[in-house]
Amino acid sequence: MSDLIWLNGEIISMADARIGVEDRGYQFADGVYEVIRLYNAKPFTLNEHLARLHQSAQAIGISLPLPIEQLSREIHKLIAQNNAKEAMVYLQLTRGVAPRNHQFPDQPKPTLLFYTRDLPPLPHPGEATGAKICSVPDERWKCCWIKSIALLPNVLAKNHAIDHGFDEAAFVEGGLVSECSSSNLFAIFGNTLVTHPAGPCVLPGITRAAILDLAPQVGLRIDERPVRESEISNADELFITSTTREISWVSHYNQSTITPRCGQQTLKLHQILRNKVVADTQ
Ligand SMILES: Cc1ncc(COP(=O)(O)O)c(C=O)c1O
Repeated sequence: MSDLIWLNGEIISMADARIGVEDRGYQFADGVYEVIRLYNAKPFTLNEHLARLHQSAQAIGISLPLPIEQLSREIHKLIAQNNAKEAMVYLQLTRGVAPRNHQFPDQPKPTLLFYTRDLPPLPHPGEATGAKICSVPDERWKCCWIKSIALLPNVLAKNHAIDHGFDEAAFVEGGLVSECSSSNLFAIFGNTLVTHPAGPCVLPGITRAAILDLAPQVGLRIDERPVRESEISNADELFITSTTREISWVSHYNQSTITPRCGQQTLKLHQILRNKVVADTQ
């Protein structure tokens, strides 16, 4: 794989890429991002990721420097030039370089970049070890639906989890679980799949949307409501989703064991998600 980056319309070597010190992304986290997974050199759910990018950018008043269709073509071009196959595309859009001032510049020149990074192949559904989740207070802002590059609370939560022997941290406020530091959370009670509704408290995950779409195929009824922390230990199955992990089944939540191995419904969901991945990318 080559190490090329698309930066403001040019494809150059990563080693030659330079971002200005006064880029507002660097100084104010004034920007948004996307992570798109490639399978077999093909981006999965690219249109959905670009639609979310557009929504996030619009929400903070940054204009995409090129139309979505053209951006999609440029992403394909970089994937080919990097010869990326099992990888991710990291894309970031900021309000660009301007003399430091909280106020927006009059004529912003957004910085848009994307590059690819190889990823290890994912384990077959059900074969990974279960994720261990701990809870942390949700101290984030109320616009979590914007895929903001201001990820410090998420970074701190994730590191708190790792430092305490867990894999991922779940944000909790008022006894309700919203999502995790870089994944959405689902609980299964009987034949009902429960996950926090889209809105201010969660990122509307692209994988989350795919799961909600596929769930009826495995006989699951959907209930979009926050999971209460007090009911988690009674969940039949618990799992988390994201672009880079697809589905991870959860073995532990704080001190409670949820399931000792991947539950049957989670396994079925993961299998049909994987079927969709294969159908869309082979
Ligand atoms: C806070 C948060 N929630 C959920 C997700 C999952 O979103 P997606 O499925 O689009 O990767 C992510 C992914 O990075 C995230 O950062």
